[in-house]
Amino acid sequence: DSLKTKIKALLKEKNAQIVAHYYVDAELQALAEETGGKVADSLEMANFGAQSDADILVVCGVRFMGETAKMLSPEKTILMPDLEANCSLDIGCPAKEFAEFCKQYPDRKVVVYANTSVEVKAIADWVVTSGNALNIVNHLKEQGEKIIWAPDRHLGHWIQKETGMDMILWQGQCIVHNEFQVYELKSLKEKHPDAKVLVHPESPEEVVDLADVVGSTRVMIEAVRDLPDQEFIVATDLGIFYKMQQLAPEKKLIVAPTASKDGHCISCAHCPWMAMNGLENLYHCLRDSTGEILIEENIRQKALASVNRMLEFSR
Ligand code: MLT
Repeated sequence: DSLKTKIKALLKEKNAQIVAHYYVDAELQALAEETGGKVADSLEMANFGAQSDADILVVCGVRFMGETAKMLSPEKTILMPDLEANCSLDIGCPAKEFAEFCKQYPDRKVVVYANTSVEVKAIADWVVTSGNALNIVNHLKEQGEKIIWAPDRHLGHWIQKETGMDMILWQGQCIVHNEFQVYELKSLKEKHPDAKVLVHPESPEEVVDLADVVGSTRVMIEAVRDLPDQEFIVATDLGIFYKMQQLAPEKKLIVAPTASKDGHCISCAHCPWMAMNGLENLYHCLRDSTGEILIEENIRQKALASVNRMLEFSR
């Protein structure tokens, strides 16, 4: 349609690229791929952005993803369709309170999830994503460290169980993953006995316990692509169905049941902030250079040190 045509023309004219998260609407993911941009998890988004020779990156996702792009590519202009698109984990871990919290445990390394503000990353020793958290925590354990983990308590608890690490957990949660329901999932499994259950570790422990595969977006996408099974129940943001269906069009995907009120699902397995990214505001931000991410240099340097520690480890 004409909006897409206009966006494509602007991307060329301004030497810009779209970097989109798996959780944004399918239309934007398709457009990113069609125009030489990237659809990925937060880590790959950051890497792609840093390696791209575009002058402008339009980050379709939530705020911390734009910040990470700016951290790694300070010379590029980083735009977001809507700067209000945030993340419940980020909001639930304000830098000032978190700094106070960390002060209580001076002998612990501070490990934070990518889903945090640049100010929180600046306090941290390490940044991790769901794709590399287990390996990094295991590495720290081997070094005899103890850690503070923030912000997602479910992911933290899962990592604690998997690694046996001594961890103090900040009590944050993702509004999408926290809503997956254990009893409803059990009965859905009974109705689909052949379906494999894929669960993101930001989900509550009882839901994780029902999983055949627990892992990051990438792990779940690869499971759908590579396992011989034909049916999957998926407990993560349903934006991910675009990539799963693209790689395995013949397979059946069922969204895991979420919390409801008065008979209606609350967030319905789709992040309301991710959903703030659309063609209309993408077009406007590109046309008018609005929604720019700017970070104070001092903070950027500090946050970058902990992000770089992760990137070097993952190489
Ligand atoms: C991310 O890193 O993009 C999010 O944690 C989701 C994931 O990849 O599991």
